[in-house]
Amino acid sequence: MRILLTGASGQLGWELRRALLPLGEVHAPSHAALDLRDTVGLRAHIAALRPDTVVNAAAFTTVDRAESNAEEAMAVNATAVGAMAAACRELDALLVHYSTDYVFDGATGAPYDEQAEPAPANVYGHTKLAGDRALLDSGCRHLLLRISWLYSLRRRNFVRAVIAQARAGNALRVVGDQRSAPTPAWLIADITAHLVDRIRRGDRRASTGLLNLSCSGDCTWHEFALAIFSHLGRHPALMRNLGIASIPRIEPVTSGEYPTVAPRPLDTRLALGRLLAAGLHPASWRDALDLTLDALLPAETPAPAGGKRTQAAPPAGTP
Ligand SMILES: NC(=O)c1ccc[n+]([C@@H]2O[C@H](COP(=O)([O-])OP(=O)(O)OC[C@H]3O[C@@H](n4cnc5c(N)ncnc54)[C@H](OP(=O)(O)O)[C@@H]3O)[C@@H](O)[C@H]2O)c1
Repeated sequence: MRILLTGASGQLGWELRRALLPLGEVHAPSHAALDLRDTVGLRAHIAALRPDTVVNAAAFTTVDRAESNAEEAMAVNATAVGAMAAACRELDALLVHYSTDYVFDGATGAPYDEQAEPAPANVYGHTKLAGDRALLDSGCRHLLLRISWLYSLRRRNFVRAVIAQARAGNALRVVGDQRSAPTPAWLIADITAHLVDRIRRGDRRASTGLLNLSCSGDCTWHEFALAIFSHLGRHPALMRNLGIASIPRIEPVTSGEYPTVAPRPLDTRLALGRLLAAGLHPASWRDALDLTLDALLPAETPAPAGGKRTQAAPPAGTP
């Protein structure tokens, strides 16, 4: 299978490059080599490469900056998606694209399923919704994965931001009235690869169309910050590795006390019934967070010269 991956330098794109590799030849041009704002070049690139699958992880993702750069955000998040979909339809290629929980205003107080009517609260959400609609209306074979609160150990995201604050010795004021499911990029990438493989093999249970995809459970940003530092507190080696001298004070604030350029929706939990019905198991956000942070742990005790690798001794009290 030949796969075209866009946005490979991003949080999700980086993980997709790894996860898609076992499925075939992955072509991952850089932003400079394939700028999505050039729709003519984009269509020509797809027509020349003739991929079986296009995975679009590129997007204009700076939510606050989108408020004053609506034209560019619309070009990348919507117009380019329409152009990709048209090129894929001509080749009968599958287009995998990512939507966001920010297409909702977060005011209903219940998890959003795939039938819920979007109503974005900010420009970023409007441009992403326009991209979703361009894809859904295109007639091309597609998988539209709607994801929430993405993070990874790369690039700009909440986990890296709070760790940087703690490293600087700052106390944290974190919003405690916005709620959803933080989801690591590696999990989205792995499930994407499963789904693409199932679709390729014609698996009856393979979902196409719109599918919510996030971790299970939910929390506020404040609870998420507490969980991050609770994990770090249990692993002094991790703290040392990250250069954090002590756990910071973490104070909850309301969205009103923490104004942002773009308004943020309050409750964007996604209903996962369709994902479960497809036989896929979403990890709990806490388990996924612990696994993500453990990737930062120092390597195990080095092997003695000429000998076998030894396991580090379990901590006292471990069964
Ligand atoms: N972050 C979240 O919390 C979140 C939540 C829900 C959904 N999503 C969605 O998930 C997807 C992946 O997000 P992410 O956080 O992984 O994004 P990211 O880390 O911001 O990466 C975006 C990628 O898009 C590339 N890009 C931007 N403009 C481009 C253009 N004009 N032409 C070509 N490439 C361009 C960037 O290239 P550079 O190397 O130049 O930066 C980068 O590789 C997006 O569709 C996003 O809307 C994100």
